Amino acid sequence: MSEHDAQAWASRPVASAQSGPELVAQPSTTLSEASREVLLNAAIMAPTPDNSQPWIFKLIEEGFELWLDPQRLGMFFDISNLCTAMAAGALIENITVQAAALGLATHYVLHPGHAEKIASFRFEPAVGTQWGSLGPSCIYRRCTDRELYDRSRALSDDAVARLRACITAQDAYGCQIYTGAACRRAIGLMTTIDALRFSHERVHKDFYRQLRFGEAAANTRDGLAERTLGLGRLLTAALRLMRPWWLSRALNVLGLNVLSALRATWLPCRSAPCLVALTHHGPCDYVEAGRVMQRFWLHATELGISAQPFGALTFFLARLHLAAGEGFSACQVAALHRVEAGFAEITPEFKSGRDQIIMIFRLGYAPKAPARSYRRPLADFVATLPEEAR
Ligand SMILES: Cc1cc2nc3c(=O)[nH]c(=O)nc-3n(C[C@H](O)[C@H](O)[C@H](O)COP(=O)(O)O)c2cc1C
Repeated sequence: MSEHDAQAWASRPVASAQSGPELVAQPSTTLSEASREVLLNAAIMAPTPDNSQPWIFKLIEEGFELWLDPQRLGMFFDISNLCTAMAAGALIENITVQAAALGLATHYVLHPGHAEKIASFRFEPAVGTQWGSLGPSCIYRRCTDRELYDRSRALSDDAVARLRACITAQDAYGCQIYTGAACRRAIGLMTTIDALRFSHERVHKDFYRQLRFGEAAANTRDGLAERTLGLGRLLTAALRLMRPWWLSRALNVLGLNVLSALRATWLPCRSAPCLVALTHHGPCDYVEAGRVMQRFWLHATELGISAQPFGALTFFLARLHLAAGEGFSACQVAALHRVEAGFAEITPEFKSGRDQIIMIFRLGYAPKAPARSYRRPLADFVATLPEEAR
């Protein structure tokens, strides 16, 4: 594991979802089969990069271990598995919310030195106050909503205050909400990044590997099902045609990448009453950041607010700073620096080169219900690993 991998996974040695009185280590308790199944079902509802669902669970008496499935990793976007680390944080948040509803306190240990073993969980009857106020139903209602939103319907001040509070309650996290001119500027910056994304061969090939046209998603139960993209029939057909990289590259010369970015990012963001950036002061622990992101997303769901994350800027900047821009041309590196500087201008709390963008979301109210993404059946994720792999 490289230095930046280790840094990315670094975390407190033992974390507890219990706020309230400190728990003294208890003798381990056996987790019932029924509770384990409920917890794992909540876990796999977590968002993952391009719906890759790269999880393996190994069952132990007091809980389970979370491992990564190496077959489902390796996207360009997912530099040093940081995107997956955030997804693992989201999974942990789902588990703690679900456990609290079962009257259980969640304890987990992260394994930052291990390439594939991410965390070990154990559970015990909750003592004292449980963290948070979310019910588990929002775990199942949360989704990535890529439909156009109703721009005329702004978020209420109360909703904004509640969303902001669930981020700023954590030390070192910031929440910047963009409306008006700042929002237009943020959309311009994100559209620039998206045009870069559409002109990048490795990103293109990863994207098409994850796209599922027609009935394919119903069979694989993973990846990006075409109906979740919010594109409509004509554009979906065009997307299908653009699969060969040579064709996309040739049409990019005529500006296809810019047109694609306008449809994939500019238009959806313009349809939203606001954008929000979650930031972290200084280098961040991406697993913890994923927990915070998911807490925000679950709260938005609870408030009936639709959300779509935009991860390209986060993970392209991570690649720029942690891997010296490996995989980008000099021109793309310069564009990334310009976008980061522009982002800092509209985000007073954010300092380029020092702070991290955790995630940018567009938020709003969608006139129609979104199509939901698939999950593989729970049994697919549960494995008994050989002893020597532990
Ligand atoms: C770290 C991270 C980054 C993501 N980035 C994007 C993104 O840039 N654009 C997008 O539309 N969805 C993005 N997603 C959402 C995933 O594609 C989505 O979670 C997955 O397809 C499963 O769908 P669901 O969220 O509706 O359950 C991201 C998810 C995660 C966890």
